[in-house]
Amino acid sequence: LEVEMSASILDSLVSLFTVAIAGAFPNVPFIKAAVNPTSPKQEKFGDYQCNSSMQIAGMLKDAGEKIAPRDVAKKILDNIPSNNLIKETTIAGPGFINVFMCQKYMVNRIGELNNLGVQYDKSKSRGRKVVVDYSSPNIAKEMHVGHLRSTIIGDSIANLFEAYGYEVLRINHVGDWGTQFGMLIAHLIDLFPDYDKNVPRISDLQKFYKESKKRFDDEEDFKKRAYENVVKLQSHDPAIHKAWQAICEVSRIEFQKVYDRLQITGLKEVGESFYQDKMNAVVDQLKKRDLLEFDDGRYIMWAPGIEIPLTVVKTGGGYTYDTSDLTALNYRVNEIKGDILIYVVDCGQELHFRQVFAAASKAGFYDAAQTRVEHAGFGVVLGEDKKKFKTRSGETVRLVDLLDEGIKRANDQLLERGREKELTAQEMKDAADAVAYGCIKYADLKSNRKNDYVFSFDQMLDIRGNTAAYLLYQLTRIRSVNRKVEGKITDEEISKIATSGQFDLADPREFKLAKTILRFHEILSQAQRDLLIHPICEWMYDLSNAFSQFYDKCYIIEKKDGKEEIKVGRLILASATASVMEAAFKILGIRTLHKM
Ligand code: ARG
Repeated sequence: LEVEMSASILDSLVSLFTVAIAGAFPNVPFIKAAVNPTSPKQEKFGDYQCNSSMQIAGMLKDAGEKIAPRDVAKKILDNIPSNNLIKETTIAGPGFINVFMCQKYMVNRIGELNNLGVQYDKSKSRGRKVVVDYSSPNIAKEMHVGHLRSTIIGDSIANLFEAYGYEVLRINHVGDWGTQFGMLIAHLIDLFPDYDKNVPRISDLQKFYKESKKRFDDEEDFKKRAYENVVKLQSHDPAIHKAWQAICEVSRIEFQKVYDRLQITGLKEVGESFYQDKMNAVVDQLKKRDLLEFDDGRYIMWAPGIEIPLTVVKTGGGYTYDTSDLTALNYRVNEIKGDILIYVVDCGQELHFRQVFAAASKAGFYDAAQTRVEHAGFGVVLGEDKKKFKTRSGETVRLVDLLDEGIKRANDQLLERGREKELTAQEMKDAADAVAYGCIKYADLKSNRKNDYVFSFDQMLDIRGNTAAYLLYQLTRIRSVNRKVEGKITDEEISKIATSGQFDLADPREFKLAKTILRFHEILSQAQRDLLIHPICEWMYDLSNAFSQFYDKCYIIEKKDGKEEIKVGRLILASATASVMEAAFKILGIRTLHKM
């Protein structure tokens, strides 16, 4: 059996076991689903474990054939095609199959990694488009920690698919439309009559929003003008449209500050306003298919299996968040031709997305068998007191202030470690930036996104914990390994040994490190399947621990009879570790350092 190197070891094992099971039980076609090897925590259970025997025995029993799980396991093993992956197998307990990997095979794969770098399996992505909807703050409102989570998680999911060769569209679905713009525009025109010539200097949009709201509530005439503005905006009145654009521009500048600092790039703004003139057609289609129900002045739509209907047209004829998301989904599938649509939005909107997806599928906007449409929801951000994340005085935390605080703390940490003695001012700044933003991102990404998340600077910056600070530091150590052998061996010599596989993984720490390195693709393909990023972080932490254990005991330069001997295999392992670690950091959107 030939194994493609960019496929994961797990995938290769699944293929082997699938063939074996089909061969062992040719009359049981449904058995394929049962193949699911895992990598066990304890060494004695092998490098991988296949637990299908019990399940298969159950299936066979249902089909009238009685055979003990251990015998099922034996039969499976008898049918494993000859291959270069598996060194040996054992059957344990009720019928677990423990798989021990062949050292030579691992050596070859590590060697390939050394010479070619990380190669992604692009076979599934050819010509496939992914639309990731993330960040998506609201115009004239503060971008809050929820949007920060969406930005960080969304960017990482987008990076993940991009690495595998998908065409990724990163869409910022900003809330830039709605009746609130009537009052904002009225207030803008009063305060900045020359809004169309100069960008209005609104330093605090939050305050501007509050002032507008107050006037809307208190002043009859203002309220009237606000309503008129809404109508004018919808009919594309040029002056009012410009005022709207001016407000959007002010917000955009604020959002961009956060994106620049976090190095969020490629995000394209296609806000709610974009879908306004497309909504009529969508509503017409729904009406034509008789999917809308008139209900007390409004039009609603029931979606299969969902207890609450969507409001598609409000009393008075206006459209809603439901309408714009139905339209956006239709557009993304049928105009953009997206194959995978991902919405990185807080779990609070879970019902909304269930409604929209079910309604869109009922309306024939997409076919779930063709297009993967998923809400990647995330929990709320909590303060260290486990209550809603607020400043000490009880206000919402401004993101720029949060980022500033991160920088300050990262810088303090560098000073505490006395790093200013060795690093230049520029290096200090780069390190503080990378550590602060890296830690903010990593802390978010390492917890399961579906859970609420406790924001704690102390924890996220802890250089001894499972943090970006720790991992970035480990990576600088790994990278420094090369310096040890500088001038003693050339890249060509290393490469030759890597290619020919003339090294071994005799020490268990070497073997374990190699095994962890080579789990890279398995972890990433699971992340794509589940849209969960935290297993990548867990694996990075495992990797860095495996490296530490290796590095403490397995010397790169060994002294023998007064002579220095370079252990090239270990050098190759270290650089393979650095390669996969760098690739993982790139997916997490975290910039790495050479010194810190
Ligand atoms: N602007 C919305 C909010 O802040 C999020 C939009 C998410 N994307 C979408 N297609 N609905 O809650």
